[in-house]
Amino acid sequence: MTATVPTEHGSSATSSTREVLAGALEAISACASLPQLEQQRLHYLGKKGLVAQAMSQLRGLALTERSKRGSELNLLKDGIVQALAAQRAQLEQARLQQQMSLERIDVTLPGKRPHAAHLHPITITRRRVAQYFTALGYQIVDGPEIESDYYNFASLNFKPNHPARDMQDTFFLTEPDKNDLCLLRTHTSNMQMRMMEQSKPPIRTVVMGRVYRCDSDITHTPMFHQLECVLIDRDVSFAHLKATLTSFVRYFFEQDVAVRLRPSFFPFTEPSAEVDIQCVICTGKGCRVCKETGWLEILGSGLVHPNVLGNAGIDTHEYSGFAFGMGLERITMLRYQIDDLRLLFTGDWEFLRMFH
Ligand code: PHE
Repeated sequence: MTATVPTEHGSSATSSTREVLAGALEAISACASLPQLEQQRLHYLGKKGLVAQAMSQLRGLALTERSKRGSELNLLKDGIVQALAAQRAQLEQARLQQQMSLERIDVTLPGKRPHAAHLHPITITRRRVAQYFTALGYQIVDGPEIESDYYNFASLNFKPNHPARDMQDTFFLTEPDKNDLCLLRTHTSNMQMRMMEQSKPPIRTVVMGRVYRCDSDITHTPMFHQLECVLIDRDVSFAHLKATLTSFVRYFFEQDVAVRLRPSFFPFTEPSAEVDIQCVICTGKGCRVCKETGWLEILGSGLVHPNVLGNAGIDTHEYSGFAFGMGLERITMLRYQIDDLRLLFTGDWEFLRMFH
C-alpha cells in the first residue's frame, strides 16, 4: 500500500508530501478568520485528517520505506503546525488591532459640558424688583405664610363676614393654634400691619413671597408669588402712588409703558384702583395677550385706609400712605412672553435653561 496523501501526480511520496505542504501553506495563509483556520487544522491535523490517515498507512510499508516516509510525514506535520501557529498569531494580532481601533477614544473630541446652574425666572424677577426698590430706600421683607385672621384680614379692615373675604379663596387650617394661626396667607398684604407695628413712619417696605389661594386652572395655581409695596409718610398722595408705579413698570419691562388707573375696591385702601399697563407685547395695538384691548391689568392699589393706619396706632392727620400689590408670575410671564403659567412650576429643564 502506498500513502494516500492526495497528489496530482501520485507517483513520488517525496514530491507528494511537498505538494501537500505547499497546498496546506497556501490554504492556511488564505484563512481570514480563526474558525476558517480551525477548519484547516482539522483537515490536516485532526484525528481523521490527512496526516493521520497517511500515518496510519505506514504500517504496510517496508522498513526503510517506512522510516523515510515517516520522517517526511513528520516534516509535513511540523510545517503545517508552524504555518497554523504563524497564521493564528497573525489573525489574533489583526483582531486585536481591529478591536483597538473600534474602542479607540478620541481625546481630541470636545467634552460634554456640565449644565451650569442658573436662576429660576421668578427668582430673576424677585432680584430685579428688589434691586429697583432698594435703590429707592425700601427695605425688602418676606413674612409668615401661615397666618392669623387678624393679620391677613381683620387688621386690614375686612369686617367679619364681609364678602371681600370670599374673593380670596382662603385655605383654612383645621384648628387654629394658640397664636390664632388659622390660614395660609392669601396676599402679602398680611405684612402691612406687622410693618406698621414694628416701626414708626416713614415706612418704606416691599414684601415678596409665596401666597396661597384655593384656585387651580390654566391661569391660576394654588401657590403663587406676590410683590407688595407699602409707603407711609407725611403727605403721601395718589400722585406718589402713580409715579412710583409708572417708574417701576418702565424699569421692569424696559419700555416706556403707559399706566392707567381704574376705580376699584379693597377694604384696606381708600380710594382703591386697579392698575392697567399698556400691553407690553403689542405696545397697545391690540393682541391675543391683551384680548385686543391694548391694556393689561396687573395690580391692585390704593391709599392706605385710615382704619388700617388707626389699627396700627398711626395718627391719620399726620400720616398717609399708599400700597400696591401684584403677582410675580404675571409680570414674569409678560416680561418673557411665557404663555403658560404651568411652565413656571413644572421644573422642565428645556424651558428653564432658556433663562441664562
Ligand atoms: N392684596 C391685594 C390682592 O392680593 C392687592 C393689593 C395690595 C391691593 C395692596 C391694594 C393694596 O389682591
